[in-house]
Amino acid sequence: MKVVVSLEELWEARRSLKPPVGLVPTMGYLHEGHLSLVRAARQECASVVASIFVNPTQFSPTEDLSTYPRNLKRDLDLLEKEGTDLVWTPTEEIMYPADFQTWILVEEVTKPLEGAMRPGHFRGVTTVVAKLFNAVQPDKAYFGQKDAQQAAVIRQMVQDLSYKLQIVVCPIVREADGLAMSSRNIYLNPAERMAATVLYHSLSAAKQAYADGERQADKLRQMVRQNIEAEPLAKLQYISCANSLTLREIQDEIQGQALLSMAVFFGKTRLIDNMLIGD
Ligand code: PAF
Repeated sequence: MKVVVSLEELWEARRSLKPPVGLVPTMGYLHEGHLSLVRAARQECASVVASIFVNPTQFSPTEDLSTYPRNLKRDLDLLEKEGTDLVWTPTEEIMYPADFQTWILVEEVTKPLEGAMRPGHFRGVTTVVAKLFNAVQPDKAYFGQKDAQQAAVIRQMVQDLSYKLQIVVCPIVREADGLAMSSRNIYLNPAERMAATVLYHSLSAAKQAYADGERQADKLRQMVRQNIEAEPLAKLQYISCANSLTLREIQDEIQGQALLSMAVFFGKTRLIDNMLIGD
């Protein structure tokens, strides 16, 4: 496995990779969720590239950039074990030189949900992902369904900017008790960690209600809200039942596929989770 930092080294190493090339963009501190993306890329592509870059522009001033967990050595060991061919670990100066002034702005699909709660977040995500795509020139790029809106936003960007690559979205990887894997889970104290399973359980209950015939989006939102509010350590920020492609909130009956998603605080830790319902 080759590890490169500069753009020049990346371009040089990229030249000898056999196509198709799969890219797994990450911010490091890898867990099974990331590794499932690497495994999917390994299965489908002749070459696998991973990037590790904690992207400052997707954090707001009140968010946890300085304390965001990092462990490069462990990440590289894990990537090597999964058969990654090339890892790019650019510095902040490489990604955002002093005179940086170009941004990618995806409009409608960035407005609700995470976009409404985290102003500027998706501008940072799309800009860095566009830079990763431009530099690595992958044939396929792998993202997790855990960040469902991010995947929708990136799909929109790829379509609008005519990138010649395929976006692959892989299923959420969960702990045995249902908690979705996330680098932020380490911030939970033991009581919060136990309480956090309420996300999975409330989404599962709503999905079951849908399977039992409930089609009113508001009933499902209400059901999740009540479950979350019954957990004293959880503070619901938003619950949404939206069209899974446009992310527009469904007002009455669910037709086609819906994305049930939410953000919940446990102390200072903000967790997101989601489930697709219908087809
Ligand atoms: O999902 C993430 O880890 C990040 O948002 C990404 C896609 C690597 C961009 O920084």
